[in-house]
Amino acid sequence: MTVEKAEIIRVQNVVKDFRPGFGLVRKRVLHGVTFEVHDGEIFGFVGPNGAGKTTTLKILMGLIRPTEGSASILGCDVEESEFRRQIGFLPENPYFYPFLTAREILDFHARLSGVSASDRSARVDELLGQVHLGHAADARLRTYSKGMLQRVGVAQALIHDPKVVFLDEPMSGLDPIGRKEIRDVILSLRAEGKTVLMNTHLLHDVEMICDRVAIIVKGAIRHQGRIEDFMPDTGRRTDIVLAQLSPEIADQIHERFDLEMHGLGERIEIRVAEKDVHNVLGLVMTAGAQVVSVMPHRNSLEEVFLDAVRAGETA
Ligand SMILES: Nc1ncnc2c1ncn2[C@@H]1O[C@H](COP(=O)(O)OP(=O)(O)OP(=O)(O)O)[C@@H](O)[C@H]1O
Ligand SMILES: [Mg+2]
Repeated sequence: MTVEKAEIIRVQNVVKDFRPGFGLVRKRVLHGVTFEVHDGEIFGFVGPNGAGKTTTLKILMGLIRPTEGSASILGCDVEESEFRRQIGFLPENPYFYPFLTAREILDFHARLSGVSASDRSARVDELLGQVHLGHAADARLRTYSKGMLQRVGVAQALIHDPKVVFLDEPMSGLDPIGRKEIRDVILSLRAEGKTVLMNTHLLHDVEMICDRVAIIVKGAIRHQGRIEDFMPDTGRRTDIVLAQLSPEIADQIHERFDLEMHGLGERIEIRVAEKDVHNVLGLVMTAGAQVVSVMPHRNSLEEVFLDAVRAGETA
């Protein structure tokens, strides 16, 4: 029996209207958003630009109020304030004073969040180590790369050891190494038992680290669930890449099996049902074709995401 983990974040039927200016018609940007995030998971809140991710996060942070509906964190309505010390937040475009060092800025935030003078220095060192910035702790932030700055932002969000961490686009603008570093930091948060909600449109990162996701398009949730549930085809179809396949044999397998076939220059890629893999390989190998690779096809999150966006456009 699987025991459902406690709900840490709950967003229920949240509607948000903005008035662009006095007398102008209001614009609805969230149309009844509902989702929940469970204890100890990394939750990906995924959607294209302008979908409503940051607006939802601002409501959770208590920075703006929902027009309708409600949201709670750790069982407290987000309009209350006492639970706030349990949450950390990395905003979408964090700004840092360029003439301060990472150690100074973290020390400053530690003071603000009430870390005692005796604990502060150790806490700052610990965080610098966690985000792998120990070597640059005393360099001014203006000398930092974007990836390093983003890690300062994450460290700042963690200064008071929050139970729940919100990250708005933590990997945006980072190169593959910077993204990997942030992913590792996020994974270390889960290992510590924290709950993480991250907004992003970088699906590869979501596939790599998130336990569950919600896809939001034009202010409405289109899908919500565990990452595995977005990939219903896993293992059921297989991609085979072949070289030196004669046109006659290609025709033959096309006739005998239910498969898709694409030319890849000199090579041919075949997507075939898993049950037919053995027979297809036997046939092509006997006919002298070379097998380059055989891989199970994953119905990737990208396909689900693009379908959701298209459905959203026509909705
Ligand atoms: N203060 C505001 N006044 C009016 N409209 C707003 C306001 N803030 C956001 N919007 C609109 O709400 C919609 C959702 O914006 P939001 O910033 O939540 O999107 P997002 O999913 O975070 O996008 P991105 O991936 O670009 O960060 C957009 O159409 C935006 O123009
Ligand atoms: Mg945003």
